[in-house]
Amino acid sequence: MACVRILIADDHELVREGLRALLASRPAWEVCGEAADGVEAIEKAAELQPDIVLLDVSMPRLSGLEAAALIRRESPTSEILIVSQHDPAEMLPSALKAGARGFVSKSDIASNLLSTIESIVGPARRAAANGAEPHVVTAAALPGPLDPERQHAERLLLEQNHLLELIARGRPLDQCLRAITESVAHLQPGVRAAIALLDGNRTRIERIVSSRLPAVLTARLCELPIVSDGATMPCGAALARGELCTCPDIAVDARWSAPWRELCIAYGVRALHTTPVWSADGTAIASFFVCLAEAREPNAWERDLVQFGAHLGSVAIERWRAETALQEARDHLESRVRERTEELEKAYTSLRVLSMRMMQMQDEDRRRIARDLHDSAGQLLAALGMELASLNGRAAALSPELAEDINSSLQLVEQLTQEIRTASYLLHPPLLDDAGLSGALRWYVAGLSKRSGIAITLELDEALGRLPRDLEAAVFHIVQESLTNIHRHSGSRTATLRIARTDGRLLLDIEDQGRGIPAEMLREIQTQGSGVGIAGMRERVLHFNGDIRITSRSTGTRVAVTFPVEPGGVRADSRSLDS
Ligand SMILES: Nc1ncnc2c1ncn2[C@@H]1O[C@H](COP(=O)(O)OP(=O)(O)OP(=O)(O)O)[C@@H](O)[C@H]1O
Ligand SMILES: [Mg+2]
Repeated sequence: MACVRILIADDHELVREGLRALLASRPAWEVCGEAADGVEAIEKAAELQPDIVLLDVSMPRLSGLEAAALIRRESPTSEILIVSQHDPAEMLPSALKAGARGFVSKSDIASNLLSTIESIVGPARRAAANGAEPHVVTAAALPGPLDPERQHAERLLLEQNHLLELIARGRPLDQCLRAITESVAHLQPGVRAAIALLDGNRTRIERIVSSRLPAVLTARLCELPIVSDGATMPCGAALARGELCTCPDIAVDARWSAPWRELCIAYGVRALHTTPVWSADGTAIASFFVCLAEAREPNAWERDLVQFGAHLGSVAIERWRAETALQEARDHLESRVRERTEELEKAYTSLRVLSMRMMQMQDEDRRRIARDLHDSAGQLLAALGMELASLNGRAAALSPELAEDINSSLQLVEQLTQEIRTASYLLHPPLLDDAGLSGALRWYVAGLSKRSGIAITLELDEALGRLPRDLEAAVFHIVQESLTNIHRHSGSRTATLRIARTDGRLLLDIEDQGRGIPAEMLREIQTQGSGVGIAGMRERVLHFNGDIRITSRSTGTRVAVTFPVEPGGVRADSRSLDS
């Protein structure tokens, strides 16, 4: 025998060594190369052009089956033998499909490998020498000669695995059904197989799936009712009753009505054997049938094939039904989630509108109470002070003791006036309306610094100018809330407040050097939760289409807010709800 050059591809070095040792027993054979993965196997095959490549299946980068297909394409003179530890019954069809000429299980290497290689390279070389097609060696891979019954069982098993894999991969239903009919036609050359699916009323065939029957025939069969008096077809009627049906010679079968008979015979269908395809709930939902071109009874193998097709058809249809039901449930769930999200968004929006409205009402109340305190109580106290002062002047001449008492009352009036003014200013500084944000903030910051002892640095943009009334109030309240938070929660002795107006934006920055916001609270704040103070700040910011960012560490907290405003110091358009 001429020298046979062999390429070994296996990711395990020990296996490669073992194969080498085994192949060395044939002096005329030579291991021309080794590869440790699928890609290397392709490259080496192209470079070395071996007579045969021994390919493992599970390899890094590219599996042996994928590599086999590419080697067949790129190095067509190299034969391929799959050597793997997979079950031969499972692997052989895939190996052949990938272009391999045989399969040897790793557990059978010692007994089968050499003879399998011989049976591949022997005929292949002779065929090549004669210019003929090499024949496929498959039996070499399977253990021992099989009796016909066992052979049938093996073939059914192989086809079944292939079909179940197709179904399990979720391929479209008709593709699976067509593959089943094709398998049956392949297992029994000469017969044509098909699956007829019934419509909801079970009086007509909804559609017929077949790899071999012409589409025009299947379409016309669907037009005929299966159980009406005028056009009877015994197999259809049997299906409606969930029974098997055999028609050995349609041409002479009195049960067949003319339209069905003529149509079938016109397309070469002379005998028919059908069986119902059952659903999981025990209803016959379809019919699997084989068509014979000659008048005869189906043989035992054909009857088995019909059962085989019906069983797999039922698996495919049930899987498809389950998947469809699952998809519908998923769609339903998704649409419910969408609806609920929309509802929640609506509820959230109305809540925001409501809370903003409440804040505005609160602002208005504060403004009114502040004005009332200032205008009524404040004015009355001023009048009282003047009265007491004039009384004091007159009393001084009459009674020094009385003058002393009046003087004490006068001081009380002054103290009360101061208290009322502070309360009124804190509720709503009149400066805010009259002198604008800068004046009100200067006054507020000075007062808070004095009361709290916090050294607050105020950096106010010279060009701040005036802003819409509602926006000025919102900024003032945000500053008020932030500085109150610093005073109440941060423990910081210092704070900085910066306000600048640039490029159509108002930038507000309030920073402290305190202990920071506790981590859990910060998370809550950043996911829109938190106390009323910060939530109120956020509402005010959102109302004016602004943006608020709160960052905090153990060394301090920063609240950064921006608002869109008209460039320059002009009043921007207010979106106040009550305007
Ligand atoms: N500058 C800060 N330094 C440290 N912690 C802060 C600071 N600002 C806020 N916090 C933390 O964030 C929390 C939430 O603040 P928020 O203003 O929303 O509510 P509050 O001040 O507790 O109550 P209120 O509704 O009266 O304002 C505070 O309880 C505090 O723990
Ligand atoms: Mg607060």
